[in-house]
Amino acid sequence: MATEKTDPGYDEAQEAVDCLPALSTLTPIMGLILGSGLGEVVQHLRVEATISYARIPHFPKATISGHAGRFHLGHWRGVPMAVLEGRMHRYEGYSAAQVAFPTRVLALAGIKTLILTCAAGGIHQKATPGALMVFSDHLNLQGDNPLAGPRDSRWGERFVDMTEAYDAQLRGAALKEAARLRIRCFEGVYAAVPGPSYETPAEIRALRRLGADAVGMSTVPEVLAARQVGMRVLAVAAISNRAAGLTRRHLTHSDVLEAGKKTSSDLGRLLDALFAAL
Ligand code: HPA
Repeated sequence: MATEKTDPGYDEAQEAVDCLPALSTLTPIMGLILGSGLGEVVQHLRVEATISYARIPHFPKATISGHAGRFHLGHWRGVPMAVLEGRMHRYEGYSAAQVAFPTRVLALAGIKTLILTCAAGGIHQKATPGALMVFSDHLNLQGDNPLAGPRDSRWGERFVDMTEAYDAQLRGAALKEAARLRIRCFEGVYAAVPGPSYETPAEIRALRRLGADAVGMSTVPEVLAARQVGMRVLAVAAISNRAAGLTRRHLTHSDVLEAGKKTSSDLGRLLDALFAAL
């Protein structure tokens, strides 16, 4: 789907940001977007204010179970932070630009570092349920890009370099803290597919040959928009299942959410150690 003229743009993002000072005087320097079943991580945040997405101008609605749709401002290990509990997906009918809108709002709020989390199916042999994967790189197979469509130079370059989309220092710090905490964690390539059906075993074999270590239906639109505005990005997938055909188990959304809940506590511990170390 090409980005539509009706996609919310810079002025809409500015309107959304303008509603934040009424909530709290806190100025976030870091943003955290939580994926499916990973909302429990919010427990670590000393919350100062919460607003539902529905009350923020132009914010798309998070419609999927396991995605709450709440915007929190607070402190985590002393770091002033915006935490977005719930995200939008291409498969909900949103364009990549709509999916990336909250990221752009965070950029206009002054956030320089963005941390994204998601659930993913494991392809690499280390990618077993309960493990965490720090993105080293991605394959965008969603057929859309939030940077496409009418150009607005206020967001930055049209042709954005993606050689090092994921910040080397943040990746290194995350892997180091995971090792110290004895959390199962590895680095790998995330393939973003449109969904919402899970992959066929043939698709997983193809993705493996393309170099994917894990597969999911999110995160990449946000990364593209974040890199355009020059944010530092870290993305971590909670592996919820072995990808289709790698076990005899069939995949269900409720199993993915259940596995996410179990991995949430490790993800929370890892982020806590990371923020303490930064
Ligand atoms: N495939 C795609 N997305 C996913 C999966 C999967 O196996 N698990 C969690 N999100």
